[in-house]
Amino acid sequence: MNNLLTIHGLRLQFGERVLLDIDHLDITPASAYVLTGTNGSGKSTLLRILCGLERARIDAASFMGEPISLWPYPSALRDAVLYVHQHPVMFSTTVEANVGYGLAARGIARAALAQRVADAMEWAGITHLHGTQPQHWSGGEKQRVALARARVLRPKLLLLDEPTANLDGPAREQVIGLIPTLLAEGRSVIMACHDRDLIGLPGVRRLKLKDGRLEMREPAISADSPP
Ligand SMILES: Nc1ncnc2c1ncn2[C@@H]1O[C@H](COP(=O)(O)OP(=O)(O)O)[C@@H](O)[C@H]1O
Ligand SMILES: [Mg+2]
Repeated sequence: MNNLLTIHGLRLQFGERVLLDIDHLDITPASAYVLTGTNGSGKSTLLRILCGLERARIDAASFMGEPISLWPYPSALRDAVLYVHQHPVMFSTTVEANVGYGLAARGIARAALAQRVADAMEWAGITHLHGTQPQHWSGGEKQRVALARARVLRPKLLLLDEPTANLDGPAREQVIGLIPTLLAEGRSVIMACHDRDLIGLPGVRRLKLKDGRLEMREPAISADSPP
């Protein structure tokens, strides 16, 4: 099976400082990765490069087996790769319009749009926000609106920047609970985070940024697996 995304030789330098010097990165379909590293190690910058918001030197890249360039960002990747910001911007309108924003921008017919928005809100557990606007939503609800707004576009790869960093208790658990369902639908997810529970989700692979280099670790063997 083809990798979803493959990158060889990614380098980003600011003046004297080499922020990223990544030999290769392979993302397989329907897989979850956590991207760890100390503050300022370049996690957000790497996610932003992968979704075309920032430019880096890249020797070679491919998406679903096709050679691509990440700059200028190809239109095929605009729908397939979505970035969810740590503090997602909410539009001052209803939850339905927030979730349906990307579909409306793509000219999806009204009835199909309403159905897809309803499905995404159900998935994210935000149907109770029906008709309300962002000033009434908690941090956890905003994060789930942002996840619904991304999932509704049926991306192949979601880039989640610290999805649980500002959440605790049930809000955090609700967001963590959505991740396995994305994988079950065949999507891949890269999450920049420190959250032990995200790192510990079954099958999650770990990407660690250290001094600009990327180390890959296979999933930990869980405690109840046979030796
Ligand atoms: N355009 C830029 N010019 C100079 N330095 C930058 C630029 N963008 C990011 N940086 C620096 O790169 C480092 C990595 O930032 P970031 O990707 O936000 O790290 P992380 O998400 O791991 O905390 C930070 O020290 C930041 O100041
Ligand atoms: Mg960051």
